Amino acid sequence: MKEQIPAIQTEALARIATAADERSLDDVRVAVLGKKGTLTLVAAGMKDVPKEDKAEVGQLLNAARTTITAAFEEKLRALQELTDRAALAGIDVTLPARIVSAGVLHPLTQIRDEAIGILRRMGFALADGPEIEDEFHCFDALNTPADHPARNEKDTFYFDSGKLLRTHTSSVQIRTMETATPPVRIIAPGSAYRRDEIDATHLSVFNQLEGLYVAGDVSLPDLKGTLEYFLHELFGPQTEVRFRPHFFPFTEPSFEIDVKLTVKGQAPRWIEVAGCGMVDPAVFESIHNNRKDNAFNPEQVTGFAFGMGLDRLAMIRWGIKDIRLLIENDVRFLKQFA
Ligand code: DAH
Repeated sequence: MKEQIPAIQTEALARIATAADERSLDDVRVAVLGKKGTLTLVAAGMKDVPKEDKAEVGQLLNAARTTITAAFEEKLRALQELTDRAALAGIDVTLPARIVSAGVLHPLTQIRDEAIGILRRMGFALADGPEIEDEFHCFDALNTPADHPARNEKDTFYFDSGKLLRTHTSSVQIRTMETATPPVRIIAPGSAYRRDEIDATHLSVFNQLEGLYVAGDVSLPDLKGTLEYFLHELFGPQTEVRFRPHFFPFTEPSFEIDVKLTVKGQAPRWIEVAGCGMVDPAVFESIHNNRKDNAFNPEQVTGFAFGMGLDRLAMIRWGIKDIRLLIENDVRFLKQFA
């Protein structure tokens, strides 16, 4: 046994030295140090070594294991380095790194998410509705008479089926009230479509954010307070906001909301950002007539609604002069919003 150990060691070191890759190196390790490896078997034979030789043989055995393990590890490192070098061959590691540019959220997405965030903190929940609508949800249920200009073929995209691309997100008010039970407090961001002449302030596809609050005792001060708070959160507490009486078929009274826009080097001017008002009882009446329950009885509920242009909000926030910039996807424009 004493002679066997140096022989095993010599052979192991020779095989380690000539191993050409990590796999054959590992084969050597298994053959010598593995469960049934040569050195392991010798160690198992220790029990038959005469007592007086045990210490010496044990030392030889440990020394051999240590030497072989060290040689193995050193060779492994060397082989790994070779693999790394081979992988890097042909790559100039001194070249400057290629810049990976991370994308940024589109300004419209940023302002939409911010608006949603503020309104959600005030208790509004997200609601949704289809962009391909019918006349009932887009107009009739919103108390819009058949001869209203918005219903004109010249202003609205109609399908042959009689359906249309919604001209505003107000249709989501109806969709919501068809199934919800008051109190209802929802917001619905989404696209709206109109056959407008495209210019610096008009696109045929634009973005709105609708809001609706219906409960037993909603009042005009609630509407004013909510929207003033919202606009101050969005544009800062100093921002001037004004409510101008207006007409919408689905609210009474109705208002348009303007925000004072001050862009450096330009005279300050009022810019319209939203329409709003107290929900017209005729709208509740229409819902009430189609429901079996009494949830939207116009004698028992009141509410306010608003719809704002998200594109406008973005233009105000960043002083963008032409709405078309928002859909052109010019990276030189978009990367300013990082
Ligand atoms: N739907 C209107 C539009 O597109 C905006 C609007 C006005 C929405 C008054 C409302 C509202 O909810 O109450 O011009």
